[in-house]
Amino acid sequence: MRGPEVADPPDPPDPPDVPDPPDVPDRPDVRDRPDVRGRPLRALATDGVVRLRPLEVGDAEAQVAGEDDAMIRWLSDGRSTLAGQRRSLRRTRAAWDRRQPAFDLGVEHVGSGALVGTLGLDAGLDVLRPGEVNVSYGMYPPWRGRGLASRALSLGIGVAIDRFRPSLLVIRVDPANVASVAVATRAGFTRSHHTVDGHGALDCFVRAPVHT
Ligand SMILES: CC(C)(COP(=O)(O)OP(=O)(O)OC[C@H]1O[C@@H](n2cnc3c(N)ncnc32)[C@H](O)[C@@H]1OP(=O)(O)O)[C@@H](O)C(=O)NCCC(=O)NCCS
Repeated sequence: MRGPEVADPPDPPDPPDVPDPPDVPDRPDVRDRPDVRGRPLRALATDGVVRLRPLEVGDAEAQVAGEDDAMIRWLSDGRSTLAGQRRSLRRTRAAWDRRQPAFDLGVEHVGSGALVGTLGLDAGLDVLRPGEVNVSYGMYPPWRGRGLASRALSLGIGVAIDRFRPSLLVIRVDPANVASVAVATRAGFTRSHHTVDGHGALDCFVRAPVHT
C-alpha cells in the first residue's frame, strides 16, 4: 500500500563562491634544507636576490674556483687548496654554530642557487675596540659588478646586529682597493682614519649599527 506522497526535499542552496586560495609564493628564504650531513640549514637573511647562509664543507670547490688574484691580494693569505678550504669551512661552520666571535657566511644567488661569494663578521679581531665588529666580503669574479656585494653587505649588517649587538661596524680596506671602498661607501660607511698595524696599511670605514 502506498502512503501519502512526500514531496522531495528542496535542493540545498549552492555553496557561496569561494575564491581560489592565492598562490603560495616560493619562500626559499625561510625554507629549511639539509646540509651535506642532513642537518637543517636555514637561510639567515635574504632580500630576494641574494641570501646569506652558513657555509658548509661542500662549498670547498666553489671557494677554490672563485679565488682569483684580487681575492688573494685583498682578502686571503694566499692560494688555497681543496683540503685547506675544507678545513677552513669546517672551522667557520663550527664557529657559526657555537656562536664564536668570528665566522664567514655564504652569499647565495637566489635565482640560481649558486654560491657567489662570502661575507665575514669578526667581533674578536685584535685591533678592534670592545663592541666593534669587522665586516669583510669577497665575490667570485663572474658575479662582480652586479650590486651583489652591496646587497650581501646590507644583509650582513643585519646579521651582525642580531648576533653581536655591536656599538660600531668597521670595514678595513687598502685604499688602493677601489671596488671595496666603493662597496663600503655605498653601504653608508664613512672613512674614519688610516692605520698601520699587523694587518697592513689600511683605511678604516665605520658605520652605526642600524638595520637598513
Ligand atoms: C670588492 C668586491 C666584493 C665588490 O663586489 P661587487 O659585487 O662587484 O660590488 P657591487 O657590484 O655591489 O658594487 C658596489 C659599488 O662598487 C663599485 N665597484 C665595484 N667594482 C668596482 C671596481 N672594480 N672599480 C670601481 N668601482 C667598483 C660599483 O660600481 C658600485 O658602485 P655604485 O653603487 O656607485 O655603482 C669584489 O670586487 C671582490 O670580491 N673583490 C676581491 C675581494 C675584496 O677586495 N674584498 C674586500 C676586502 S676589504
